[in-house]
Amino acid sequence: MDDRFNTFAGWALFSGIVALGLASVSARYFEADKEHRPHEMGYEIEGVESSDGGEEEVPLATLLAAADPTKGEQVFAKCKSCHTIDAGGANGIGPNLHGVMGEPVGKGAGGFAFSSALSGIGGSWNFDNMNEWLASPKAFAPGTKMTFAGLSKPEDRAALMVYLNNQGSNLPLPPPPAAAPAEEEAAAGDEAPGEGAEEAPAEGEAAAEAPAAE
Ligand code: HEC
Repeated sequence: MDDRFNTFAGWALFSGIVALGLASVSARYFEADKEHRPHEMGYEIEGVESSDGGEEEVPLATLLAAADPTKGEQVFAKCKSCHTIDAGGANGIGPNLHGVMGEPVGKGAGGFAFSSALSGIGGSWNFDNMNEWLASPKAFAPGTKMTFAGLSKPEDRAALMVYLNNQGSNLPLPPPPAAAPAEEEAAAGDEAPGEGAEEAPAEGEAAAEAPAAE
């Protein structure tokens, strides 16, 4: 046997060891500048919302105030296969929707044969119940004839409602929630105590009235 075999074997072994060493060293080198953050942060602080999940809901009034009726008209394209919206327009698979905001739910002016699922709901269309209806007709009126899945985006629903409202209804939009947070009002109260003092009880009254009315 050639005794150079041992030499070859020695070199092979040696280069293997060097390669292994290099791999380990380079791994450390390339990782040196990376932050070593654990996948899950250690503990949650009570009262602080975690950054993932917990979708923040924008109040409907705020969405309506920002809504663009032109966008709403585009969204209405999804409804046109079943609905007309012009004054005196024909009923199709669904009823004519001219002036529907403010009208009694599921009654319709144009003699459309509504399902009892919808006509039994009661009340009139406003921004709140229309928002629910458009989000999921099935959930709002189980058994409804309106086979439309719903609009999942709150912005689309708001834009559509403003558009609908402009077509012969013209209900007043709900006032957007006061932009000024409590601290600002308190600060303003220092300068003009009359104003701050007036506002606070007015709000309390409204809150007290609501349950009494029922
Ligand atoms: C596949 C056909 C179809 C589509 C698409 C459709 N609708 Fe309807 N819609 C109906 C039917 C049918 C009814 C009657 C439901 C019932 O009687 O249960 C209805 C009822 C309604 C009502 C109640 C009217 C009233 O007088 O109470 C509103 C409001 C309405 N649709 C709005 C919309 C809007 C807005 C869209 C688009 C986002 C839309 N619909 C898409 C078929 C449709």
